[in-house]
Amino acid sequence: MAVEVISLKDVTKDYGHGRGIFDVSFDVQEGIVFGFLGPNGAGKTTAIRHIMGFSKPQKGTVRVNQLDSWIYASQIQQNLGYLPGEIALPEHVTGAAFLQMMKKLRGMETDVYLHELLDYFELDCQGAIKRMSLGEKRKLAIVAAFMHDPAILVLDEPTSGLDPIMQKRFIQFIQKEKARGKTILLSSHMFSEVEATCDDIAIIKDGVVVATFDVAQLKETLPKKFQLQMQDEEALVQLQLHVKEVASIEEINGTEMLVSVPRQHLTSFIQRLASHQIEKFHEIPFRLESYFMKFYER
Ligand SMILES: Nc1ncnc2c1ncn2[C@@H]1O[C@H](COP(=O)(O)OP(=O)(O)OP(=O)(O)O)[C@@H](O)[C@H]1O
Ligand SMILES: [Mg+2]
Repeated sequence: MAVEVISLKDVTKDYGHGRGIFDVSFDVQEGIVFGFLGPNGAGKTTAIRHIMGFSKPQKGTVRVNQLDSWIYASQIQQNLGYLPGEIALPEHVTGAAFLQMMKKLRGMETDVYLHELLDYFELDCQGAIKRMSLGEKRKLAIVAAFMHDPAILVLDEPTSGLDPIMQKRFIQFIQKEKARGKTILLSSHMFSEVEATCDDIAIIKDGVVVATFDVAQLKETLPKKFQLQMQDEEALVQLQLHVKEVASIEEINGTEMLVSVPRQHLTSFIQRLASHQIEKFHEIPFRLESYFMKFYER
C-alpha cells in the first residue's frame, strides 16, 4: 500500500496581489522522487517552506509522516534533510566547523557517511565559508542536508550553482539515495535532472497546481513521434495519404516528415508503413522538456 510521506491539502498562503499559493494539494509517496516544477515566482519555495514548518498555512494542512508540519516541525526535522533555495551559512567559520556544529545539533554519533559525502562531492571544507565559491557553498549545504542520512529529503533547486560534472554526479547521487529507500521532493528548473530522477511531478503556476503526473504512465500514454525520410517528394505524398488517418503530420521538409502517432494507432501505422519504400525511419525519444514547456508559457 502506498504510504504518504508528505501530504499537502488545500494549502493557502495569500501574500496579496495574487501572490502566494492557493489550495495547493499533492502527496509524495514513500520511496519516490517527486519533482516540483514551475516558473519563477510560481510558489515552489513557498510550498516547501510550509512543508518544513517554517510558515503556517492560512488554510489547509501540511503533514509529514502524518504529523502536522507546523506543530511538529522540530520532531519532523530530525529525520529530514533540507536544502534551502537560498542558502544562508555562517560566514565566519570553516566548512568543517559548520559540519561539526550540525553533527552536534543533530546528535550524530558517527561521521562515516559525512566523509563519504565530502569525497563524493569533492569538497574541501577546511577553509572559511566566506572564502568559498558559490558552488562550494552549495556543495557544503548539500552535504549538511544529507549527512545524518535522513529518510526524507526536501531540496529546493539542488543543482543550481553546480557545474555540469557536479550536476551529473548529483543526479547519480539522487538515484542512489532513492535506491536506498529515501523519499525525495525536489524543486527544479532543469528538465534533464527531473527526467533522470523523478517518478511523480507536480507543476505549479501562479500559486496553483495545474498538473500532476506519474512520469512512467505519461511516457506510456503519450503519442509516439517518428521522423521518416522517403526517396522523393512524390513517395512522401503517397505515404502521407496512406497514414493520415492514424497519424498526425507535424512537419514536412522536402522528403522528410515528422509524425505523431497515438498509441491505439501504432500497429496500424506500422502496418501501413510496410507497403512503402522508406529511406530512413527513427523514433524521436520522449523528452519531458517538449511536453512541459507549455506550462511555462504565459
Ligand atoms: N515573504 C513573502 N512576502 C510576500 N510575497 C512573497 C513572500 N515570499 C514569496 N512571495 C511571493 O510569492 C510568490 C511565490 O514565490 P516563491 O518564492 O514561492 O516562488 P518559486 O516558485 O520558488 O520561484 P523561483 O523559481 O524563482 O524560486 C512570488 O510572487 C513571490 O514574490
Ligand atoms: Mg524558489
